[in-house]
Amino acid sequence: MSVIETITRSEWNSNSNPLNVEISIDGQPVAAREGELLAEAVLREKDIPHICYHSHLMGPIQTCDTCLVEVDGKLVRSCGTNVTTGMKVVTDSKRAQDGRAEAFDVILGNHMLYCTVCDNNNEDCRVHNTALALNVQHQQHPFTPKPYEVDMSNPFYRYDPSQCILCGQCVQACQNVQVNETLSIGWELEHPRVLWDGGMQIGGSSCVSCGHCVTVCPCNALMEKSMLGEAGFLTGLPKQSLDQMIDVVKAIEPEMGYGGIMQVSQTEAKMREERIKKTKTVCTYCGVGCSYDVWTKDRKILKVEPLHGAVNQISTCVKGKFGWDYVNHKDRLQKPLIRDGEGFREASWDEALSLVVTRLGGIKKQYGPDSIAVIASSKTPNEEVYLMQKFARAVIGTNNVDNCSRYCQSPATMGLFRTVGYGGDSGSIEDIGKSDLVLIVGSNTAESHPVLATRVKRAHKLFGQRLIVADPRSNEMAQRADIHFRPRPGTDLVWLSAMSRYMFDHRHAKLDFIEQWVNGADEFRKSLEPFTMEYAAQTCGVPIQTLEAVAREIVAASSMCILWAMGITQHTSASDESTAISNLLLTTGNYMKPGCGAYPLRGHNNVQGASDMGAMPDSYPGYQHVTVPEIREKFEKAWGVALSPDRGMDNHQMVDAMHEGKLRAMYLAGEDMISADSNANFVGAAFEKLDLFVVQDIFFSETCRYADVVFPGVPTLEKDGTFTNTERRVQRLYQALPELGDARADWKITMELANRMGANWNYQHPSEIMSEMASLTPIFEGASFERLEGYKTLLWPIAKDGSDQPILFLNGFPFSDNKARFYPVAFREPEEAPDDNFDLFLNNGRLLEHFHEGNMTLRVDGIREETPERYLEISPELAKERNLESGRWVRVASRHGSLKIKVLVTSRVHGKQVYIPHLSEDVPMNILTGSHADTATNTPAFKETAVKIQVLLEKGSNPLKPLNFRFSGKPTPQIGVEVERKWKRKDYKMPGTEKLVQINGVK
Ligand code: SF4
Ligand code: SF4
Ligand code: SF4
Ligand code: FES
Repeated sequence: MSVIETITRSEWNSNSNPLNVEISIDGQPVAAREGELLAEAVLREKDIPHICYHSHLMGPIQTCDTCLVEVDGKLVRSCGTNVTTGMKVVTDSKRAQDGRAEAFDVILGNHMLYCTVCDNNNEDCRVHNTALALNVQHQQHPFTPKPYEVDMSNPFYRYDPSQCILCGQCVQACQNVQVNETLSIGWELEHPRVLWDGGMQIGGSSCVSCGHCVTVCPCNALMEKSMLGEAGFLTGLPKQSLDQMIDVVKAIEPEMGYGGIMQVSQTEAKMREERIKKTKTVCTYCGVGCSYDVWTKDRKILKVEPLHGAVNQISTCVKGKFGWDYVNHKDRLQKPLIRDGEGFREASWDEALSLVVTRLGGIKKQYGPDSIAVIASSKTPNEEVYLMQKFARAVIGTNNVDNCSRYCQSPATMGLFRTVGYGGDSGSIEDIGKSDLVLIVGSNTAESHPVLATRVKRAHKLFGQRLIVADPRSNEMAQRADIHFRPRPGTDLVWLSAMSRYMFDHRHAKLDFIEQWVNGADEFRKSLEPFTMEYAAQTCGVPIQTLEAVAREIVAASSMCILWAMGITQHTSASDESTAISNLLLTTGNYMKPGCGAYPLRGHNNVQGASDMGAMPDSYPGYQHVTVPEIREKFEKAWGVALSPDRGMDNHQMVDAMHEGKLRAMYLAGEDMISADSNANFVGAAFEKLDLFVVQDIFFSETCRYADVVFPGVPTLEKDGTFTNTERRVQRLYQALPELGDARADWKITMELANRMGANWNYQHPSEIMSEMASLTPIFEGASFERLEGYKTLLWPIAKDGSDQPILFLNGFPFSDNKARFYPVAFREPEEAPDDNFDLFLNNGRLLEHFHEGNMTLRVDGIREETPERYLEISPELAKERNLESGRWVRVASRHGSLKIKVLVTSRVHGKQVYIPHLSEDVPMNILTGSHADTATNTPAFKETAVKIQVLLEKGSNPLKPLNFRFSGKPTPQIGVEVERKWKRKDYKMPGTEKLVQINGVK
């Protein structure tokens, strides 16, 4: 078996298989798994060196040779050998020990041990630890620096070739886990090294700064720049002094041996524990929910170290790994602000709170509780959202409470509630990786949900998963897809419904499944009558052959996941389009089993949680309706107040009500509503009509400009709580840093406000808030901080005994008869389309490196350096027609507003479709989008906007740096590190042998 063949899907999942065979290790019988890597079985029993083996790297790499053992008398790499029953393994023979020692000695030829002055010497350096474990005293292979410069050209990390031991873990991570395919090792070079795009500088290569390579590097060859000179007690010394110290160490090594030197470095590493704090947190950006340890020294963020996260293991994207500088940015709000004429003045908490209490109380008395509204944040923890909705309901007395899922996720939730009864992902991200076919509709997954995308990319690259992408834009997933097609914007319902009809017409619908588990089939089939393939091809502008090929792929797949995002949910028919997705999954029997189902990809870190916690005008936590008397009585009893029986206003209706004078006050936390809602001019004009506008945030956002009082909240690193990611997975975050200045955790602010308005809340810690929520919410019944301690997670619904449901619907659907429902939908043309006057279709969305408008990421120097400004993507065809080139300024105007922007010519967009990222430092992109919205949920139809462009005379530089990874990189795809090329080198000899001996059948 070759190295490549050893990477199999079953092996990847083998950790969950039972121990089913017996082998012997050093004469002792040991239980193991047939086919698993021998290193895994050995390491369960005893510690042997294994520098290049990393359990999260998709199979063995076999570059370091330090894991040698004898099997049935033959020397083999334990990480490259599969367990077979009865195998006799010897780890402690002289031959095996000598082989491992020789292998490590070769490594020391590539790596200078200067551990005491190394920032990687934090008790987890594999080279240092292996030197100690093998009790190395002297080295035979002299250290030979490689003739290459240290590469500092990436803003976040650096590569030092002379310290690189050529283990290839970075390559494996980049090629097989992140699947950015930037890294390789130049095995044929006289002095092999890691190569970016086959030999470029890091800056300007295809590297997306996800940090996988840095995370897995076992030594200091790849390091976060934020660690350099910071981690050690002596590492911050001037370079000249450091070099002198290294020279001293080298000089004494021949006489004294490494023993004493390593003891000193070991002691120094131990001392670092005192000043480096490691805190588990959950990413503050997207809904994937990566978790990791953040290393801090006082307030300085040294690095992010992912490893144990249930979602991400070693994975992050650039934002999670390197996007934290904003936490210490000088712009952080540290004191309450009160409007003073045209500006603001700083105030004490007492003054600011008293002012808000007095004015809110007055407005409530004069206009009634429904004249006040509350917006909770989808970026704050569940516990803080729970308190915000409780504040609205129990203190103010209104159900006017909402969150920003209204701007993106509500239609997906609606489509799922209509059909399958739960508004969440059907399974886990791991499940998506196991699917035969992934169909992505209207989602730029690689940029908006980067780590989730890696799971699709690797399944597609390594395990034969099929990938189909329907999107007007050629994003990365579209470029990788087996089929990419571009439906006319707003027509996805048509081709999706045509797929369902095709399944019935061609006897591919899963009739047994439908018979047993789905209601309403007859009516649904009737509703599909208009949706022939011909009609779909004509309406969507997609060749019929393409649609039929898609249908054949769906038929051939034994499991299918459908992933969708804002390309679906931000249309006037968004709920119906989401429903059509779920209808297709029901038609094809793609629910109730692993590796299939519906995956609406949640945008913000806690947008799922914000809705789960009841920040919605019609539901208490857990989607319990406010209009149901028994439910309302339950909450009245628990909270000790009478509650409003009427559905409240959603945030779209709130804006209208401000204009109408019905809504007089708003308390909004953690959201830049001006930038997030549609039709920014209209929203701003509404805010100006409020009698009182209280905004709680960490920075002075665009929305703050309209506030009367601004409360300074804190970012996630400064508080405790839980987030719920796109999979419904609840995860703990812990406080890593003290609250900055006078800023306070949002739950404390809300509690203080509530108590000053007559409530009697006495929460000492967010865990108590969760306990209260769980006691009132059936789908969270068994949730508690104890059960979520550290890296433990739970996917709702969570039963009283603490059991959860990683895969929904295994035993039926949460309707009274346990059955799902087909929900017929009909096609409507988009409400706003291009015409003679506004002749271009405007698309919009996220960038990989920036989060939405950039409130946080524009305050991260490295990210700002890479991508400082937004731009208007136009197609080469349009550029030719209008005589435009990248860097030219244009004015983009819609029926709702206009803005000035630079052009970027790119083949990612086609024809008369243009694209603007959400990023904005001044005028929000949403000034262009209108107030028309999904008819079922009021989610604005951001993706139904027609614009025109006026070419201006000014010409600037290209809005993206010439070396931006999108354009300058030339990836070098390969499977893993290709160690066979190393073994072919003339100077390679397997340690412990006289000549090259290969294993796994490689000759
Ligand atoms: S994309 Fe860049 S940061 Fe990510 S693993 Fe590859 S080389 Fe490393
Ligand atoms: S840079 Fe890559 S090859 Fe070099 S030591 Fe680090 S992980 Fe191994
Ligand atoms: S932004 Fe999303 S993908 Fe990136 S690290 Fe955070 S949670 Fe993971
Ligand atoms: S750990 Fe087995 S060869 Fe490196």
